[in-house]
Amino acid sequence: MPTETQPLSVLVRASRVIDPASGMDRVADVGVEGGLIKAIDSSLDPASYDKVIEAEGMILAPGLIDPHVHLREPGQVHKEDIESGTLAAVAGGFTTVCCMPNTSPALDSPEMVEFVRSRAQQVGHCRVFCVAAATQGRKGERLAEIGLCLDAGAVGYSDDGDVIESASMMKSVLQAVKATGKCFMQHCQELTLTDGAVMHAGTVSAKLGHRGWPREAEEIIIERDIRLNKAIGCDYHIQHMSSGDSVEIVARAQREGIPVTCEASPHHLLLTHEAIETHGSMAKMNPPLREQSDIDALRQGVADGVITILATDHAPHTNDEKRNVLSEAPFGIIGLESALGLYHKALVETGCIGWPKLIELLTINPARLCGLDSMGLGSISVGGAADLTLIDPDCSWTLGESDLVGKSRNTPFLGWTMGTRSVMTIVGGKIRNERAFSSVV
Ligand code: DOR
Repeated sequence: MPTETQPLSVLVRASRVIDPASGMDRVADVGVEGGLIKAIDSSLDPASYDKVIEAEGMILAPGLIDPHVHLREPGQVHKEDIESGTLAAVAGGFTTVCCMPNTSPALDSPEMVEFVRSRAQQVGHCRVFCVAAATQGRKGERLAEIGLCLDAGAVGYSDDGDVIESASMMKSVLQAVKATGKCFMQHCQELTLTDGAVMHAGTVSAKLGHRGWPREAEEIIIERDIRLNKAIGCDYHIQHMSSGDSVEIVARAQREGIPVTCEASPHHLLLTHEAIETHGSMAKMNPPLREQSDIDALRQGVADGVITILATDHAPHTNDEKRNVLSEAPFGIIGLESALGLYHKALVETGCIGWPKLIELLTINPARLCGLDSMGLGSISVGGAADLTLIDPDCSWTLGESDLVGKSRNTPFLGWTMGTRSVMTIVGGKIRNERAFSSVV
């Protein structure tokens, strides 16, 4: 991590401390020293701390965790790298990110997992953990070095960006990952249904004359994998869920006791396929934006506890690439800097969930998915890691170019006004991002 002068101890005073892991939700002072939480009390002595933050009216949450980001290093560092991606993360309130293996070369060996770990230690602004590829080169043909990647520190496995196409390979992956005790994260895309498709199959694709990408492409893979996993019992996780009917499929499996979790991304909770007409390739992602009924079902899935994790799928691409015609432009948008405000808009402002639940979906739940809770991440407790996010729950700000501190600008959310924002990100006791805010006194 970068070295600069930092206060040795920090006191965050009188904020609403929300820690879903322990059920804490009360106004308190939180003291930080030596990278750890030193004390939580209704009143701590400010004279004992080097820096005192008057945070009345703010929310103090465990540091936010994003289990699904693309940092592009190695291989595509013109789009993002570990330094710039983690800068974007702390700007958005994230203290931990888990990076996907679709780099070049792929993160499919212990050497590559170790590369990410040591690079993050040198230049990272927040914690970075590696989700290693499940198959060699993410080609879906031969198992990767799954056990050795675990020893090197992988916190999960995925071929994200690509589905594991073959059912037989998928079975082997579930068995191999089950043996590690980690999770497998699937990119659910049936390939014959999506060949040449660039957007959701619906009225807009028909109007614009684009090949459509049906919901069933996602649902079929989820159904298949759940069936395969029934006898195996691996922790199976669905990435970037886009179809409303997928929620029902997952809910059924959960009722049967099959281990399956799923995540939703800001764009799938807020935008429909119509965004392609206004934003072109800035609204092109994999899986595609769908319809209002899907948004409603995803939000309901969050409210009902079927979807327990939020993840940005931060996918940086250059403006040049995104300026290509829709069929040629790459899939994906960035998300780290704007995620918190957008999740709040989609889920809290609509009355689906309240703040404690939102924080749970962004902290302890992703921590548990990736086994980070056993490292003390995702919660606030005395003696635990001082990873904290201070949030202004009631402000108004508009996403502009200057808020995007990563290398890429590919987002359809520029110009959107949001009602909440992280104002300070503390990683291991060090202040990584601080913006002016006015405490309610
Ligand atoms: O839109 C996406 N972009 N979806 C993915 O699964 C991969 C990602 C990327 O790497 O650009």
